Amino acid sequence: MISRKKGVPQAQILHRKLMELWQRGQSEFCEVRGSEIHGRGVYARCFISREKRIIEYVGELIDKKMSERRGLSQHAKSLKTGDAAVYIFTLSKNFDIDGNVPWNTARLINHSCAPNCEAWVEGRRIFIHALRDIGPGEELTFDYGFDVDTFEDHPCLCGTPECVGYIVSREQWPELDARVKAKNGKRG
Ligand SMILES: C[S@@+](CC[C@H](N)C(=O)[O-])C[C@H]1O[C@@H](n2cnc3c(N)ncnc32)[C@H](O)[C@@H]1O
Ligand SMILES: [Zn+2]
Repeated sequence: MISRKKGVPQAQILHRKLMELWQRGQSEFCEVRGSEIHGRGVYARCFISREKRIIEYVGELIDKKMSERRGLSQHAKSLKTGDAAVYIFTLSKNFDIDGNVPWNTARLINHSCAPNCEAWVEGRRIFIHALRDIGPGEELTFDYGFDVDTFEDHPCLCGTPECVGYIVSREQWPELDARVKAKNGKRG
């Protein structure tokens, strides 16, 4: 039996909430397509000007304890299947967003060493903005900001002339360079 609140069926309320959630994860500026970088990616459907807000990175608000647990399990799953990924996005000192929900289109944005987008935290929400003018049909990318400690787990296939070979935060590129040289030195 369907329960009612103020005359509105519960199922209808739930449906409306789900539709609102779904809407927040969509954008008229981009669409999902097969990517040359990896799996599926997100592409510009039209010209997008610099700094434009393109799409929200929606998901579940979780605390750091839960985030660590989910991050580990998502990573373990990705090692097993080879194609899953980590969708946890840092929000603040105390909270993260777990974007591993089907209505979060932005979870499919790939990493690039020369990204055309970046994530802006606005309160408890995350939005993807254009870092520069983006032409129609260009794949949207941002810097995943992964730590250099795990560089060997994340080879980069972005294919840009700037590619450093691994998905590592740009801030840590000097450290990455040193570690890659040390690694190659050991081999040689
Ligand atoms: C959040 S998903 C992005 C969407 C992914 N392409 C898909 O189809 O599920 C992140 C995963 O995509 C892959 N990926 C993203 N950017 C990449 C890149 N530049 N080089 C290699 N793999 C990448 C990695 O496996 C990463 O863990
Ligand atoms: Zn790269």
